[in-house]
Amino acid sequence: MQRLLVIHGPNLNLLGKRPENYYGTLSLSEIDEKIREYVKSKGMDVTIIQSNSESEIIEIIQKADNDFKGIIINPAGFTHTSVAIRDCIEAIDAPVVEVHLSNIYAREDFRHKSITAPVCKGQISGFGLNGYLLAIDYFDKEER
Ligand code: DQA
Repeated sequence: MQRLLVIHGPNLNLLGKRPENYYGTLSLSEIDEKIREYVKSKGMDVTIIQSNSESEIIEIIQKADNDFKGIIINPAGFTHTSVAIRDCIEAIDAPVVEVHLSNIYAREDFRHKSITAPVCKGQISGFGLNGYLLAIDYFDKEER
């Protein structure tokens, strides 16, 4: 069975408490439940992790490389700061799709630049939970 890896970056464990206008009202466990249901409906399998640690995210991506059809990552705050996560994504073979719940281009200037997106297959930003589901659709349709 084809497997996907979903990585949620820092502070996404606080969803539900973060500003609703950007992030909606769903908790991370509610989002994860919808992701699991959707992946299952596509006949695939998913592993979902959340980490507040840059080094842990890097280790997870390095280890995941050959085990998954693709990786869906919301690097959260690390999107705008992490050269190290970018270098890691660039080095692996597994395709990576970057997802943001909010539209980072409609927010503060410091969020307009994603350091990680240029080494990803693409980026989905601003569609809330549906961004993850669209990324799953991409991997479902893509041969690998
Ligand atoms: C986010 C956007 C980032 O700018 C922010 O730091 C986050 C969440 C999003 O999903 O919209 O923590 O990645």
